[in-house]
Amino acid sequence: MAIQIKTFEQLQLMRKAGLVVGQALELMKAAIAPGVTPLELDAIAADYLKANNATPSFLNYHGYPNVICASVNHEVVHGIPNERPLVSGDIISVDFGAIVNGWHGDAAFSIGIGEIDPADQKLMDTCEGSMWRGIAAAKVGGHLTDISHAIESYILSQGKYGILREYGGHGIGTEMHQDPHVINYGPAGLGPELKVGLALAIEPMITRGTEKMKTLSDDWTVIASDKSNGAHFEHTFALLPDGKPFVLTAIDGGAAELGRLGVEISPLLA
Ligand code: CO
Repeated sequence: MAIQIKTFEQLQLMRKAGLVVGQALELMKAAIAPGVTPLELDAIAADYLKANNATPSFLNYHGYPNVICASVNHEVVHGIPNERPLVSGDIISVDFGAIVNGWHGDAAFSIGIGEIDPADQKLMDTCEGSMWRGIAAAKVGGHLTDISHAIESYILSQGKYGILREYGGHGIGTEMHQDPHVINYGPAGLGPELKVGLALAIEPMITRGTEKMKTLSDDWTVIASDKSNGAHFEHTFALLPDGKPFVLTAIDGGAAELGRLGVEISPLLA
């Protein structure tokens, strides 16, 4: 499949989807507490979609049964929301995608519940930091794996983590998953050239142990084969006509986090 390059008008539509995703994730984040179940988070997302004329990207995708993915502790990604209440000490990753007028947004975060192991907090901070560094590395005229390399370098600089090999980021637009696939490791300077109008979901997935994964018998839940805890962050961003990035699924467009890394976001979608 060729890489879908979006016009400015199309990116304006993608921002609508991105904001729905970002705002729903904020609502879910605010609701997360001991005693809350992943299925209750799924209901928050479903209700938010209805209220905003949006539809879920994940529901029925290759038969996926829910609106969000909720992955607890050693579940790294694609956990199916269940009725087990979260307890203090758990960490959870919530992944959510939405469609507005045919355009997708896709994002995820990890967060701790109550008192957590500081090593789990470091795991999540490392994962999030790598995502922002990956996005910050995306420059018009650069190459796709500049992103991959920035993600990996930051993770390796923070400690011994397993970086998932068989999963990565992706192009996104009129479908959730488009070309190109974005790996989260490897050398810079390879792959397609980064161009204005490119929209990518960047999603590092790491564990405190192995990079080797197993899929559970539900055919979805991906766990670390050594049962180590995992983290997953994701944002959808685009390169705007002024050559600057804009994070479509971040409420502030990525201004704060990219600003900290010395990258100015595009004012065009503000
Ligand atoms: Co994704």
